Amino acid sequence: MKTITLTGHDIREAVTMHEAIDAVRRGFVDLAGGEFEMPTRTVLRDGQFLVMSAHHRSSASAMIKTLSLNFQRTPAIAGTVVWSETGRLDHLVADAGAVTALRTGAAVGVATDLLAAPEAGRLTLIGAGGQAPDQVRAVHAVRPLRQLTVVDADPQRARALLETLAPELAGVELLTATDAESAVQEAEIVCCATNATSPLFPASALPAQVHVNAIGAYRPTMRELPDELLADSTVVIDELDAVLEESGEIIHALEAGAISKDALTELGTALTAPAAEYGKRTVFKTVGVAMQDWAIAQLLAGKFLH
Ligand SMILES: NC(=O)c1ccc[n+]([C@@H]2O[C@H](COP(=O)([O-])OP(=O)(O)OC[C@H]3O[C@@H](n4cnc5c(N)ncnc54)[C@H](O)[C@@H]3O)[C@@H](O)[C@H]2O)c1
Repeated sequence: MKTITLTGHDIREAVTMHEAIDAVRRGFVDLAGGEFEMPTRTVLRDGQFLVMSAHHRSSASAMIKTLSLNFQRTPAIAGTVVWSETGRLDHLVADAGAVTALRTGAAVGVATDLLAAPEAGRLTLIGAGGQAPDQVRAVHAVRPLRQLTVVDADPQRARALLETLAPELAGVELLTATDAESAVQEAEIVCCATNATSPLFPASALPAQVHVNAIGAYRPTMRELPDELLADSTVVIDELDAVLEESGEIIHALEAGAISKDALTELGTALTAPAAEYGKRTVFKTVGVAMQDWAIAQLLAGKFLH
């Protein structure tokens, strides 16, 4: 029996963002095709601990992730991913912080590739914490950036993020801003990656054509997007049951009557449908599902265990 243990560094060295995006894209297609057994995640202590699991039927492999979350701590998210396969004794144990950031970025990469205008290259990112670098890397992988503006409630975090990313973003204009409302006014793509509990900007601040990704809210009490934006956009989500249970913005907009459930399209369905004409404003809302972690763990197992 072999147990391989991978640190965040090992994971980063082994998996490129392009590979992560391809793996997570295949995962979303398989999710839409009924290939996964994936219970709604277990939430303990009002979201301070999460337990997630997914079984991929045709490969007979499964992933279980445990996370602890604390936004007074850096990193805010820590934990363990365990991958195994029926019929073999080998296991893979991986740092969940790196897997989570990579797979959350990758989902945003898949959605941005599908929904953003082909020439979009001006990104505004709100929230410069642990998830932020992979949000930028993922968008840059599918829509090479011309300009990146970073906004954070803590301006020092915004500056530090740009310093971290600068070597990877040669030729991209790098800016910080303090006011989210004005920073989204000329954006072609917006990424929201905060732990905010109320909308980060009014819908009226956005240009007529824009793609918005929102990864931050994962509890009904959390929100990054206003109802008016959801009402006025093509809204794609990671998984219906998960967002109905956990996405504060979707729950709020449904309760306010701003949107109906029929207006929500799962990413896997959108990827497999014939090329669609989307509205000028598109939103991708993800709370994160276990399939994404499985997709990265399966990729790692292929590299380290076979
Ligand atoms: N959707 C998913 O799959 C997924 C995956 C991982 C994390 N998350 C969620 O994403 C969020 C961010 O995670 P993280 O690990 O980067 O957290 P973090 O604590 O490292 O960073 C959050 C950042 O947001 C900033 N912020 C908070 N409110 C703000 C506001 N109103 N305006 C501007 N900046 C603001 C904070 O200053 C901080 O820098 C969390 O809520 C986390 O649970 C979602």
